[in-house]
Amino acid sequence: MNYKITVIKGDGIGPEIVNEAIKVLNKIGEKFNHKFEFTEALAGGAAIDARGVPLPEETLEECKKSDAILFGAVGGPKWDNMPNNLRPEKGLLTLRKELNLYTNIRPAILFDELKSACPLREDIVEGGLDILILRELTGGIYFGKKFTENDYACDSMEYSKYEIERIAEQAFKIALTRNKKVTSVDKSNVLETSRLWRKTVNEIAQKYPEVELSHMYVDNAAMQLIINPKQFDVIVTENMFGDILSDEASMITGSIGMLPSASIGNDNFGMYEPIHGSAPDIAGKGIANPIATILSASMMLKYTFNLFEEAAAIESAVKKSLKDGFRTTDIAIKNETIVNTEEMGSIITSNI
Ligand code: IPM
Ligand code: MG
Repeated sequence: MNYKITVIKGDGIGPEIVNEAIKVLNKIGEKFNHKFEFTEALAGGAAIDARGVPLPEETLEECKKSDAILFGAVGGPKWDNMPNNLRPEKGLLTLRKELNLYTNIRPAILFDELKSACPLREDIVEGGLDILILRELTGGIYFGKKFTENDYACDSMEYSKYEIERIAEQAFKIALTRNKKVTSVDKSNVLETSRLWRKTVNEIAQKYPEVELSHMYVDNAAMQLIINPKQFDVIVTENMFGDILSDEASMITGSIGMLPSASIGNDNFGMYEPIHGSAPDIAGKGIANPIATILSASMMLKYTFNLFEEAAAIESAVKKSLKDGFRTTDIAIKNETIVNTEEMGSIITSNI
């Protein structure tokens, strides 16, 4: 079968890591007899430089014509002083919003092979970790009313009930395929939006009696992720809390360079990207960890194309490469073989 993928490499390490994911997808295509057709499009700083805007109209059109998007990372110091609506990040945020990709799935899994790279005490992570963070992606403070007037600035956190209902539904559905536990994270002791969030999640929970629901304040959740991460199965939370908690959870996996993500909407269409940024400090050095992007490609196979065997093949290839002792610098602790971005991509590809 033919699959049409829009590729947005973006800025910084974006192109380096995306190239490795494409390498892996091509190998999957060969091996399982699929054709992945890649079309490149611009967003972020690269688009600002070439077109003067972070999300050119033709990029959005291209994305809408495709089955899925593979996204690298955007941003960098070069564009830091741009006004908000002309920053590289605005390109990414507009894509999420325009394509209605409200469910952001961020799995934080500690691979056995990376236990030593996890900064938490051994007894805390004993037996492994497998947490799925569901982050609401198209609402909240990211997209509420915002303005600056002289010495005053305002960002408002806004949620409508339907936005909470649909992400809560996703959380319960996904929990049914896992350990049937949902932790809804909010700040309902302070925020109005959180009170609506909690009430709505409780309502949706009625439809899923098999799933055990608990609520947690976000400050406590930040702490619990460190002292007792094993208690979590599915975490569902609003946009900004999810942004922060997923970076925190990524460190449990050894490195932010390990965490993939899927952003999906109502049909199978999705955008797949690592959760990390463009890492301008190491861009061009060829040392970035491509695994988060490669695992994002695996999520694409699973969530958009329903190619489960193929997705699993990528995951096993990643595990095998780690087991054989290959590490990019971010996940190296001792005595392992340090490889660069391209080498890691090739090793994973050859393990498929
Ligand atoms: C992420 C990133 C983005 C976000 C930035 C680049 C706008 O941090 O995907 O987590 O805040 O959502
Ligand atoms: Mg983030």
